Amino acid sequence: MHSRRALLYMPGDDRRKIQKATTLGVDCICMDMEDGVAITRKVEARAVIAQAVKELDFGKSERCIRINSFGSGFEKFDLAAAVATNPDAIVVPKVETAAQVRSISEYIELYEVSSKMETGSIRMLVGVETAKGILNLREIAEADKRLEAIIFGAEDFAASVGATRTRQAAEVLYARSAVVTACAANELQAIDMVYIDFHDTEGLRLEAQQGAGLGFSGKQIIHPNQVVPVQEAFTPSAEAIAYAQRVVKAFAASQREGKGAFALDGRMIDLPLLKNAQNVLDRAKAAGKL
Ligand code: COA
Ligand code: MG
Repeated sequence: MHSRRALLYMPGDDRRKIQKATTLGVDCICMDMEDGVAITRKVEARAVIAQAVKELDFGKSERCIRINSFGSGFEKFDLAAAVATNPDAIVVPKVETAAQVRSISEYIELYEVSSKMETGSIRMLVGVETAKGILNLREIAEADKRLEAIIFGAEDFAASVGATRTRQAAEVLYARSAVVTACAANELQAIDMVYIDFHDTEGLRLEAQQGAGLGFSGKQIIHPNQVVPVQEAFTPSAEAIAYAQRVVKAFAASQREGKGAFALDGRMIDLPLLKNAQNVLDRAKAAGKL
């Protein structure tokens, strides 16, 4: 799977920001047709994105397009315009049911078949950010093979349940953990909420580390200043990688000796800790550190 430590949004009608995004070395560039674009600019956004995808070199960054949500009245036109650019991935916000996931995937498949592309070559990421979406996470996460990640939107979720957003984010902890759990059960990536105060790098770093600690594989971002701190937070440190490699090695040796649990540096290691160490190595690999 493509590394998705940071997924940077920019309004799809803003060519200057799309261009800037291609220079930042960010894992994912998400050109927005949804809430970052004024109602009066939706048509413009479709055209600007199509032009940008055709003309710009995105390097290793994944080219994602976020369409408007079901029921907005824009979604069909957005989807048609988005797939026609041959993007790497379509992002669907405010998903609430498995049927919605499947209907988008089927539309993409029709496009792939008619364009003689391999089925499944356009990936799909979905936003789950409403009370109903969180309740239906299980069926959403299992809905379709094309799906690679679930994105959690804290501001929309708080609005949907009537919660007040705080710095500590206790009001969204249940939903964040639910997303991580549904993703882990289905081998999907989980992408954490936006930190909207883009001048506060320290606060961003802490929240990104907390998200990584909860099990998220990446985080949504909205400003170039957020790329480095977030990608760092989701990349295991050299010490963490070295320790994980020692755990894997020592585990293999203890298994050969017929011991399930053993001590390393005064700490108990058994199977779940091995799995954790393997997760660290997987993340390191995805981030190009191994
Ligand atoms: N992607 C790419 N480039 C961006 C960017 C983004 N999300 N946000 C800012 N930049 C660029 C600016 O264009 C500017 O570049 P320039 O110096 O070449 O003109 C530079 O980074 C510095 O920007 P700055 O002046 O600090 O911010 P701003 O006032 O121009 O924009 C926001 C602030 C919040 C409007 C802007 O960051 C933004 O549009 N973010 C994304 C919003 C969005 O998509 N929301 C929906 C999803 S949650
Ligand atoms: Mg949103």
